[in-house]
Amino acid sequence: MLECNVSNTTPFLPEDWLTSRLPALERARAMLEKGDGPGGAFTGWVHLPRDYDKGEFSRIQAAAERIRGDSQALVVIGIGGSYLGARAVVELLRSPNFNLTRRDGPEIYFAGNGLSSDAMLEVIDLVKDKDFSVNVISKSGTTTEPAVAFRIFKALLEEKYGKEGAKTRIYATTDAHRGGLKGLADAEGYEEFVVPDAVGGRYSVLTAVGLLPIACAGVDIGALMEGAAQAMEALSRPGADNPAWQYAAARHALYTGGRKVEILAAYEPSFRFFGEWWKQLYGESEGKEHKGLFPASVEFTADLHSMGQYIQEGERLMFETVVRFARSRGSVAIPHDPDNVDGLNFLAGKDLSFVAEQAMRGTLLAHVDGGVPNLVVTVPGRCEKSVGWLIYFFEYACGLSGYLLGVNPFDQPGVEAYKNNMYALLGKPGYEERRAALEARLS
Ligand code: PA5
Repeated sequence: MLECNVSNTTPFLPEDWLTSRLPALERARAMLEKGDGPGGAFTGWVHLPRDYDKGEFSRIQAAAERIRGDSQALVVIGIGGSYLGARAVVELLRSPNFNLTRRDGPEIYFAGNGLSSDAMLEVIDLVKDKDFSVNVISKSGTTTEPAVAFRIFKALLEEKYGKEGAKTRIYATTDAHRGGLKGLADAEGYEEFVVPDAVGGRYSVLTAVGLLPIACAGVDIGALMEGAAQAMEALSRPGADNPAWQYAAARHALYTGGRKVEILAAYEPSFRFFGEWWKQLYGESEGKEHKGLFPASVEFTADLHSMGQYIQEGERLMFETVVRFARSRGSVAIPHDPDNVDGLNFLAGKDLSFVAEQAMRGTLLAHVDGGVPNLVVTVPGRCEKSVGWLIYFFEYACGLSGYLLGVNPFDQPGVEAYKNNMYALLGKPGYEERRAALEARLS
């Protein structure tokens, strides 16, 4: 279902790049399977595609049907791991222009993923005259950005539908036991969905965190989970031919050989947010203790006309991982033009995806010749099963990669630093001393 081609990477690596890492990969595999490595309490995602709560899954499907029936718009409130996965899958499987496409369900807007007043006003303006529902997603229930956004949209719903009416349009996805959002949802009687204790934000797309908004977009979440379950089964098998082992080993070998940046590239504009999801997954999992590849992403061919120059001839810092979809969904034939002013009649009758494939093959060789190792991950197409596979592949390889690097891939201690400064500067009680120190530095 998925292939990882390392042939354009190996010329840059020592011969034993994979064999020398097999024992460490086996240790990493065992830690993921048993959940007894660093951060093992957060490896609930490993068996999730098999062990997920089937009762809750049915409730997610029912809630999505309800929202699709009674709402012209859905506002999805969340940030980081409570945002990126849902948007990535909606865009990849439906469209980056989802709200403009012909649909049989609500428009979907994302809010609470930043603090821009202008962005907030725009979403308010787009939904206020429509029937809308809100899915507020926060595992901790205390994150500032979604909490502020939820206050705003809750007030808007209450103004529009009354307090009781608003409650039937709010869906809360949060911790099963604790947190501010959990308390509020219990008190108000919102329909609740759970972020499992053992699943951290960036690994949560296949829980209610991602699945409810994704189902509201009309995606078959059963098929998505089926693809992930197939990946779980395939990738749990140890061996040098395991694509997750190959990917994790190659990127680790490239990193130890001096490559500090991994660029994720795809030739599908709908992949852009998947790249954002992937950056969080790898950046938060590996970037600690002053170690880790810096994850970047590009959209080809568009970025060949911007970042292409640097990739070809700039500092040799990076390698590329290209995600290739073997099939396009549709075909677009290039027309014949009697004037042939652009000289492109040699392409007349050819399919646009043929041109894209040649662009990809040519770019790969050009970049390899320019000294940029290339890994190619091929999936059959933009369908639910393939995307389920791809999600699980990157999650699993990320767990392996973190252990190869010698870090805990499931914590994110560095994220707290900005929060503490922000709380202090906002005047949060208990942060007075820090506030004074920060203000003195900033004045
Ligand atoms: O991966 C993570 O843990 C983070 O990106 C969180 O998902 C993000 O900070 C949002 O947290 P919460 O869901 O608690 O609001």
